[in-house]
Amino acid sequence: MCGIVAYIGKKEAYPILIKGLHRLEYRGYDSAGVALLNEGKLTVYKCKGKVSELEKFTEGKSKAGTIAIGHTRWATHGVPNDVNAHPHYSESKNMVIIHNGIIENYASIKAQLVKSGHTFLSDTDTEVLIHLIENIQLVENVKLGDAVRLALNQVIGAYAIAIMSKTNPDELIVAKKGSPLVIGIGVDEYFVASDATPIVEYTKNVVYLEDEEIAFIPRKGELKIKTIKNRQKTPYIQELEIQLEAIEKGGFPHFMLKEIYEQPRSIKDSMRGRLSASKGAVKLGGIAEYEQKFLNAKRIIFIACGTSWHAGLVGEYLFEDLTRIPVEVEYASEFRYRNPIIYEDDVVIAISQSGETADTLAAIELAKSKGATIIGICNVVGSSIARATHAGSYTHAGPEIGVASTKAFTAQVTVLTLMALHIANLKGTIPSSRFQQLVSEIEAIPEKVEKVLATNDQIKYIAGIYKNATNALYLGRGFTFPVALEGALKLKEISYIHAEGYPAAEMKHGPIALIDEEMPVFVIATKGASYEKVVSNIQEVKARKGKIIAIVTEGDEQVKEMADYTIEIPETDEILVPLVSAIPLQLLSYHIAVMRGCNIDQPRNLAKSVTVE
Ligand code: AGP
Ligand code: GLU
Repeated sequence: MCGIVAYIGKKEAYPILIKGLHRLEYRGYDSAGVALLNEGKLTVYKCKGKVSELEKFTEGKSKAGTIAIGHTRWATHGVPNDVNAHPHYSESKNMVIIHNGIIENYASIKAQLVKSGHTFLSDTDTEVLIHLIENIQLVENVKLGDAVRLALNQVIGAYAIAIMSKTNPDELIVAKKGSPLVIGIGVDEYFVASDATPIVEYTKNVVYLEDEEIAFIPRKGELKIKTIKNRQKTPYIQELEIQLEAIEKGGFPHFMLKEIYEQPRSIKDSMRGRLSASKGAVKLGGIAEYEQKFLNAKRIIFIACGTSWHAGLVGEYLFEDLTRIPVEVEYASEFRYRNPIIYEDDVVIAISQSGETADTLAAIELAKSKGATIIGICNVVGSSIARATHAGSYTHAGPEIGVASTKAFTAQVTVLTLMALHIANLKGTIPSSRFQQLVSEIEAIPEKVEKVLATNDQIKYIAGIYKNATNALYLGRGFTFPVALEGALKLKEISYIHAEGYPAAEMKHGPIALIDEEMPVFVIATKGASYEKVVSNIQEVKARKGKIIAIVTEGDEQVKEMADYTIEIPETDEILVPLVSAIPLQLLSYHIAVMRGCNIDQPRNLAKSVTVE
């Protein structure tokens, strides 16, 4: 899913590119590379590993150039090695490309080009595209821009590309379809990147390129955009709202820890302007015009992946409980390929932090083509999913850089809670006293999260005890079942300990066989409708000598007596417990992973936004 960055202007490009690539490393980090054009000489530096490896590799080498492109890769075609790293040269080596996405029909194009004498150095689909462009330029005798356009009409798949050519030393050509691309407009300089984070410190004026658009970026003068069908477009310049501090670590050793600690604020920001306990109202401007669709809906379908899917599961419990609308929760990747039944009066809610997840985007397109109403819950403003939906409500969690999602999850659950409450209020499916009570309770959540964060030392101590576990079980019931799934996912992805999340009562149908004195079982046993049942499930684990680490409601004595360790969280309404109980599990995974020496913000094999299917 790769990060791309490019620069054209008066400054030395290399430092700008390197800084930008570091910011984009969340998108992939198995190799990195840059290409610099200086006084007619085109130089490519690329190597396996992270951006820091590239920096070492270029030490002492000439890095001059005021036009350049850079890439950090997450391999789809070809193993992560030096040769497959981007940028890739054309046949003549006169031009170079960086690419984020997949050229699906690369094999047939490659076969044709090989027949006409082209030699390929890498196994990537990307290299095929730059060869194709050069081939068209020569065969058709057209300008580079036209060759790019004609080539993009031939390719099937997704791309965000940047191209630089020796023969056009004063122009960058970029294009996109399916993968994101932003152009920053400075004074006599332009920046290009996969998202705005490499751009924000230089300029706030940006253009988000639309699908099938090509931008011609000159060293001087105005940016021009046309579609791959050769239609001129007027660039739509927007002002960035993101602040630089929001993407720096702010004194924390890892982005993940910073993001865990940001949750009182990010939850508050996701409620800001939407909730008024005194007026007893919820306002969600983004979906105001679609309220009737919710009121007429016979069904709500959540589509998402990973952590966002877990938020969707909380959404199911919330919407069914409060609005009495039947809900289904779908993995986007399954939904898109299984010929699902979609009615025109379905409301499909797509949840995505990045707003770029390829499977979620494809599932949206499918549901849209069947006439359903698509509502988005995204964190990244202007992202592909946000733009593909009919309407939506942003989570205002701020940029999430750590690959393991934390503050995005609680922000998603916050927005889902507000949405369910609002619709329930409109439908009259909950009494106004219950509505009022929940509105005041949710306002108190940031403070409660703050209290949980204050137990960090105790959580770190418990992490030290279980850091060498090879397996772990997470149990929850009702509203806390999705939290158990999320707790297990957090442990797996950053500490590489195998973990399973289960509904507590389901344990006896299989996983109970795994329990012995070595097995830590993390149970969310907060007060609520199933409390007594969960207590019985804890007894079942104890009877088999399993170790119990329980998340309990402040003041709980019963579970404390049975558990090996307990972590107390403030009492709140049962439907809001996910927002508070997710926090200790995030911290626990974080500390365990730190103690095991794992890479917290960039765990192996993963990438922050999965823009390939
Ligand atoms: C979460 O910790 C994961 N890294 C991953 O499961 C993530 O939630 C998933 O890829 C979905 O991403 P999205 O929210 O950006 O669509
Ligand atoms: N398909 C390209 C490669 O494998 C780009 C990968 C991506 O953007 O995920 O190099």
